[in-house]
Amino acid sequence: MAYLFRNFFNLLTTVIRKVSYWGLKNIAAFIFYEIMYYFKFNSRTLFGITNNELDYELKGGEEFIEYIPTPYFLLNKSLKKINLKINDVSLVDFGSGAGRVLEFFIDRKIKFAKGVEMSKNLTKIAKLNLAKFDNVAIFNMDAQEYKITVEDNLFFLYDPFGVETVKKIIQNINSSLLEKPRKINIIYISPRYRESFETHFKTIYKDINKYNLGLVIYSN
Ligand SMILES: C[S@@+](CC[C@H](N)C(=O)[O-])C[C@H]1O[C@@H](n2cnc3c(N)ncnc32)[C@H](O)[C@@H]1O
Repeated sequence: MAYLFRNFFNLLTTVIRKVSYWGLKNIAAFIFYEIMYYFKFNSRTLFGITNNELDYELKGGEEFIEYIPTPYFLLNKSLKKINLKINDVSLVDFGSGAGRVLEFFIDRKIKFAKGVEMSKNLTKIAKLNLAKFDNVAIFNMDAQEYKITVEDNLFFLYDPFGVETVKKIIQNINSSLLEKPRKINIIYISPRYRESFETHFKTIYKDINKYNLGLVIYSN
């Protein structure tokens, strides 16, 4: 009985905390879209990975950002706000986890989707989740080592790593733009290191609350 009560109490405090961070309207949208896409895709992306389950060494000084998939309601919102033609999109998800973002965008008929993920376990799960598609590639590597190709034009980050890696990714995007000037968009969810992007790119959409929850989209 005490166990049940404790579990219920924990659940209640979690729900209250989430509602106070996100607001009721977003929580309702979150639940609605999670259920809808659960039935639509039936893939395994909604689970957490704790610090102990991590199968790679953190880089010096870099804090661990646990695996949490981007909520589908935020993916929906970002899809409506990008200013690229959807069937010209070649997406790169830096820190792609179990492949939720890739699957969501492939379903919207983008040209190609790439995921770059440091965890071997998550890469394996993503490959299983996405085995049914032939326009996807997943690389098990550090995102900052990924060589951006001249086709890549939509970059996605869900608060995947610390500021040093973010800066390296920005450098890589800029080098690729020098190599081949083209229109790009960057979708940044829970955008902690906005200043780093804002000095290089213009903001075309921003919806974040005081807890840094939400999304920003940049373009050049
Ligand atoms: C918050 S999760 C987001 C997952 C996915 N983008 C999504 O939204 O569903 C961040 C992911 O980044 C990965 N990650 C962290 N540092 C990385 C790095 N340096 N290179 C590649 N992946 C990294 C983590 O293992 C984790 O899967």
